[in-house]
Amino acid sequence: MTEKRSSFSNRIGFVLAAAGSAVGLGNIWRFPYLAAKYGGGIFLLVYLILVLTFGFTLMITEIAIGRKTRLSCVEAYGALDSRFRFLGPLASLIPILIVPYYCVIGGWVMKYMVEFIAGNGLALAGDSYFSSFISVTASGFGNNPMPWFVVYILINAVIVLAGVNKGIENISKFMMPLLVILSVVISIYSLTLPGAMEGLKFYLLPDFSKLSISTILGAMGQMFYSMSLAMGIMITYGSYMKDEDNLEASVTQIQIFDTGIAMLAGLMIIPSVVAFNGGSAEGISAGPGLMFGVLPKVFAEMSGGSLIGAAFFILVFFAALTSSISLMETFVSIIQDRFHTGRTATIIGVTVFMLLMGTLSCLGYGPLSFIKLLGMEFLDFFDFFTNSVLMPIVALLSCILIGRVVGTQVIADEVTKVGYQFKRQRLFEVIMRYIAPVLLVIILLGEIAKYFGLISI
Ligand code: TRP
Repeated sequence: MTEKRSSFSNRIGFVLAAAGSAVGLGNIWRFPYLAAKYGGGIFLLVYLILVLTFGFTLMITEIAIGRKTRLSCVEAYGALDSRFRFLGPLASLIPILIVPYYCVIGGWVMKYMVEFIAGNGLALAGDSYFSSFISVTASGFGNNPMPWFVVYILINAVIVLAGVNKGIENISKFMMPLLVILSVVISIYSLTLPGAMEGLKFYLLPDFSKLSISTILGAMGQMFYSMSLAMGIMITYGSYMKDEDNLEASVTQIQIFDTGIAMLAGLMIIPSVVAFNGGSAEGISAGPGLMFGVLPKVFAEMSGGSLIGAAFFILVFFAALTSSISLMETFVSIIQDRFHTGRTATIIGVTVFMLLMGTLSCLGYGPLSFIKLLGMEFLDFFDFFTNSVLMPIVALLSCILIGRVVGTQVIADEVTKVGYQFKRQRLFEVIMRYIAPVLLVIILLGEIAKYFGLISI
């Protein structure tokens, strides 16, 4: 007899848990800066198309694999076809590489939260504050990103060790709606800044001359990251989903949540960057620091801005914390399943690993900036390597496994198991069998060719 797997009590519980994993720094910090970097409206358009087609297909596949096999990602692929067993460990590697640098950003958020709470928020609005912070050139212990990063990791480790993740999750279920409301307020305010309309146009109107392979690769990587796809996470969630629940409808709802919050974050940040740029979207300064550079400026302009800034960073902190805890939890259970180690020892080992790996990313803009990997700082490199290299490869192999080896019917059967209709079955099949694999191969080859200077798009 196999042990009975616990499951979510109902569909809303499932959707909220999966959306809780999906919504995090990916939506609030990463999406706006990529949209700014890859041409605004065109990035948004490509992103939305990918979410509705490829994202939908992949999410439904992963959740269905989990529910069908009732296994976590490490074993689930192998249970479908033993030749694909390696895909489990490969997909598991992704959260392991993400969590150290995720905690670096978590540390930045915590620093901003504490400064705003202490009433020093306005000091962060200066032009070069953020760059001197991350390049470790500002004087003073509190202006060094390392202690923030270390404390952030220790908070995660303590929560995972004490097993109080559920408590944190409950707090964040209550904080999330507040975050959305506050983001709407900040967006409306941002749009009243002089010059913001240019920014709104940049964000919403696609400029097709800016479309390139990198835009598509960037949008696709962001889609995987933001929805926690192509790394086995949704397989694990699916393994806890009840058979009676409607899979297709759940996927739609998770996608609406996740994409809605990302779009809102873009609306809050991009028009204001352009406003502070003197109303010009040309040469919009992009990069991982976008949110940290621009939002304090917005708060400095607002009446009551210090208070709003404090509230905002507290909410983002909780959004980040729930994601980093579940990333760390994933990491711990991968190690435990594989090596049968004790929980406390595993958590200590994982914490040390995260501290060491994360330090590279944390100091990569400062003392370690002389080291570049493929021309990138550590944080940018780990982000690029997971999102733009590993995730597309895992996605491609999943498409081959489902589209060519076991057949799309396996997924369709799972979706329609208790009599639900699979409304977008044709779309799903065409994407899984033809469009996604071809697109992925073209994009991966294009990116490699670009890297070696063979093409310049
Ligand atoms: N999707 C999360 C975000 O947008 C990040 C993330 C990636 C994640 N993989 C995860 C969160 C696994 C929890 C578990 O920030």
